[in-house]
Amino acid sequence: TGLATARQRLEGSLQIGGQEHFYLEGQVSLAVPGEDGDMFVHTSSQHPSETQHVIARVLGVPDAAVTVEVRRMGGGFGGKESQANHWAGIAAVAARVTGHPCKMRLDRDDDMIMTGKRHDFRADWVLGHDENGLVRAIDMRFFARCGYSADLSLGVVDRAMFHADSSYFYPDALIHSRRLKTNTCSNTAFRGFGGPQGMLAAELMMDTLAIRLGIDPLDIRKRNFYRDGRDVTPFGMKVEEHATLHAVVDELEESSDYRARREAIAAFNSTSPILKKGLALTPVKFGISFTLKHLNQAGALVHLYTDGSIHLNHGGTEMGQGLFQKVAQVVAEEFGVSLDRVKITATHTGKVPNTGPTAASSGTDLNGMAAKNAAEKIRARLVAFACERFQVEPDAISFQDNGVRIGEETISLGQLAREAHMARIQLSATGFYATPGITWDRPSASGQPFFYFAYGAACSEVTIDTMTGEMRVDRVDILHDVGHSLNPAIDIGQIEGGFVQGMGWLTTEELVWDDAGRLRTHAPSTYQTPTASDVPEDFRVELFGSSGNPSPTVYRSKAVGEPPVMLAISVFSAIHDAVASLNPGTVPELDAPATPEQILKAVSHMKRSRARA
Ligand code: MTE
Ligand code: MOS
Repeated sequence: TGLATARQRLEGSLQIGGQEHFYLEGQVSLAVPGEDGDMFVHTSSQHPSETQHVIARVLGVPDAAVTVEVRRMGGGFGGKESQANHWAGIAAVAARVTGHPCKMRLDRDDDMIMTGKRHDFRADWVLGHDENGLVRAIDMRFFARCGYSADLSLGVVDRAMFHADSSYFYPDALIHSRRLKTNTCSNTAFRGFGGPQGMLAAELMMDTLAIRLGIDPLDIRKRNFYRDGRDVTPFGMKVEEHATLHAVVDELEESSDYRARREAIAAFNSTSPILKKGLALTPVKFGISFTLKHLNQAGALVHLYTDGSIHLNHGGTEMGQGLFQKVAQVVAEEFGVSLDRVKITATHTGKVPNTGPTAASSGTDLNGMAAKNAAEKIRARLVAFACERFQVEPDAISFQDNGVRIGEETISLGQLAREAHMARIQLSATGFYATPGITWDRPSASGQPFFYFAYGAACSEVTIDTMTGEMRVDRVDILHDVGHSLNPAIDIGQIEGGFVQGMGWLTTEELVWDDAGRLRTHAPSTYQTPTASDVPEDFRVELFGSSGNPSPTVYRSKAVGEPPVMLAISVFSAIHDAVASLNPGTVPELDAPATPEQILKAVSHMKRSRARA
């Protein structure tokens, strides 16, 4: 009805390419047979519990006979959420058959050919709107290449649908998806988990609308943002924190000097026949939580030793995102000690069992809280003991500056631990956390799948060469919301890395299969990830001055692992804008990734349509 009664209609279609993870360390596992049919496996897996369970099934032994340990991964990016299991299973079988330790490691080319990637998509859309560019209704159809097995495609494509709104209110919406079974590798999780594909389609709708109406795309975007009274997503969840979205975008519009640069670029383009510039400011709103409800739980194990040193273990895995550092900071804070007193140990299914994958950006939210819970238990026992031992009230005791203040006195944590131990107090605790308030009901497609949203915005300026299709990113300004940052250096690293990885997906990383179904881009010689020299020369990244996550996360922080990938949509949008400048009013035919070939094709289409006009 919304479409039928809308004043004007627009439609379009967009091809969205996949992406190879290109983790620096490929898939690898080392299986060591033990006594009594036991198997110990070192692996590069984001999901040690699932790897354990798969190995147990493959060997025909109980889960308890298999132990999986992950010290750290040399990158995962979603590519080791489910797909580390096969190689661990193969190594375990070989170890069982030979009775010797066995290591399975994929050669880079084999890794790129065999393992799954980001899903490539086609997105078709119809949009009804009014003359001011306010969206009245949308009908979006997603087609996702899943490959030969289901893998994580259910969740990935669901997340594309969840993010088909990007930051915009659709009064009426139909969002369809087809999960296509194909004779190609089985596509899987990749940073953003379908969200980037859904959001790219939404942002291209906004750009198309802006071109058709001759209105600045940023104005079209802001007009359609979630706001009071227009704050319910197509899946029925209320967007409570839309004020943060507005604040982030308004502040970036100012600090990036968007309006003045828009004019300067128009002036440049009017006098530059071959080089054309483009500019775009795009928002990010990303839902935090696993949409598979039971995964939103975590465990931890904390020991306090009698010398005052602390042993920390939790169910999350380290892949370069800084999770171990953040969780250790939480435990150090709870005991009032410096970070060097906390020993972070390898993820181990014998220490913390039945964990979920480290994914959905929720590693710190979940494991930080579980570790905090364990530390609080030990601290509470120490406080109870000290109250009796020193005859003080609980509020006379505080843990700070590597010591314990008890009334007027300060003793070391080690001394208190020793005395508590002599009094037979337990100095070890498990911790647990389950995210509250998640009510997603998939069959009826309604409820609250996300605990909260992470926000951000990016403004990118590019120059394209209309003779060669070459493109350069001239300047990028980013403002990103991480709530109360647990560690600004790590968070900024995640934002920069996520942005550049997203930029690779949308500009240079192209997967090519031949007619026989063989991947022709199976090595860095033919598959172009961004390198250090592709990082924008003028790259300004700031954390939003947040007053803290309104949802009660660990110290009011926000997840940061995946959302920054989608900041890179601004680069694609800026390229689209540069191409559009060739024939105002005409919508470029640009698919992702916007490689030089794509850009050149879009440019010649624009030149042809201008010649016809
Ligand atoms: N950062 C680095 N350096 N390496 C990685 O493999 N994976 C990303 C992101 N950042 C990744 C990374 C992905 S896909 C996710 S889901 C999160 O980190 C997982 O970690 P977190 O939940 O602790 O943020
Ligand atoms: Mo990340 S794609 O959720 O491992």
